[in-house]
Amino acid sequence: MSKVQKLPVELELATSAHVKYIQSLDTRKDEYEYWLTEHLRLNGLYWGLTALHLLRRPDALPRDQTIDFIISCQHDSGGFGAAPGHDAHMLYTVSAVQILALLDAFGELEKRGKGKARVGKFIADLQNRETGVFAGDEWGEEDTRFLYGALNALSLLGLLDLVDVGKAVDYIVACANFDGGYGVSPGAESHSGQIFTCVAALSIAGRLDVVNVEKLGGWLSERQVPGGGLNGRPEKKEDVCYSWWVLSSLEMIGRAHWIDRDSLVSFILRCQDTESGGISDQPGNMVDVYHTCFGIAGLSILGYDGLDPVDPVYCLPKSTTERILGKRK
Ligand code: FPP
Ligand code: ZN
Repeated sequence: MSKVQKLPVELELATSAHVKYIQSLDTRKDEYEYWLTEHLRLNGLYWGLTALHLLRRPDALPRDQTIDFIISCQHDSGGFGAAPGHDAHMLYTVSAVQILALLDAFGELEKRGKGKARVGKFIADLQNRETGVFAGDEWGEEDTRFLYGALNALSLLGLLDLVDVGKAVDYIVACANFDGGYGVSPGAESHSGQIFTCVAALSIAGRLDVVNVEKLGGWLSERQVPGGGLNGRPEKKEDVCYSWWVLSSLEMIGRAHWIDRDSLVSFILRCQDTESGGISDQPGNMVDVYHTCFGIAGLSILGYDGLDPVDPVYCLPKSTTERILGKRK
């Protein structure tokens, strides 16, 4: 890793502004934008809470109200919707499990929710038992995002044996490309977001041995553009969220040092709104909670001062995954 650059004062992480920004998201209910993003509500809560925990402000949102909201999103099937009354879907179910993990609140699923076992069944029923991949909901769209989500949530719940992990690994192996990367389905071009889902799922399955580390590490490190930021595919623009998808993948295969640390730190910090808080995809754009979370999580992998270490497989604080899963390699 290159030596740490002395950053100018205006390029520091605006921690208290980011905390206020995340706190404000739930109080702006009269704004049109809030209702426009209702379909993302549970995911937004996961991004916001993860950012707050990494910023070492875990109590900045009220724990009890957060848990009440999550329980109110659960269906009899065990799955969760984005907000009360919305259809259950894999991605919101994963967010619910991640948040309950963060808040050390799995017990609430038994007390007030439909129970862990039913959540596990909802997820397991979405596996295609022939190919090993997962669907997002009963309507059937299938891809590696849902496969990763399933392994993520089931492993946190201690219910991985409900699914065929070997078949899921076979599916990921079939998605591998000659450049070392992975696409959304067999034959699809390599994409950093999908690479994250495949490598993280392989890590949960204990099968990182199937990854072509040199080739994949090379392809991922070429995602860094001259301005310091990372893009998702060749010829695309840099974007803060790829600081997460690319860097966490490199971290999982032990090659995060193939990225120039200081110029990426500086790119992420240039995407902050230092006054009103939040981080955007590129300098000068509107901030949102998704890029705020992944910008902070990226800085955590880069060892930025004052942040809690993040687990590159789960995008949760390491302290959370270690509490639930113990220390992993
Ligand atoms: C890029 O999306 C990112 C992906 C394809 C990965 C998404 C992964 C999940 C939803 C799994 C859940 C993740 C966690 C951390 C729990 P994009 O649509 O922005 O791609 P684009 O840049 O090509 O538009
Ligand atoms: Zn983005």
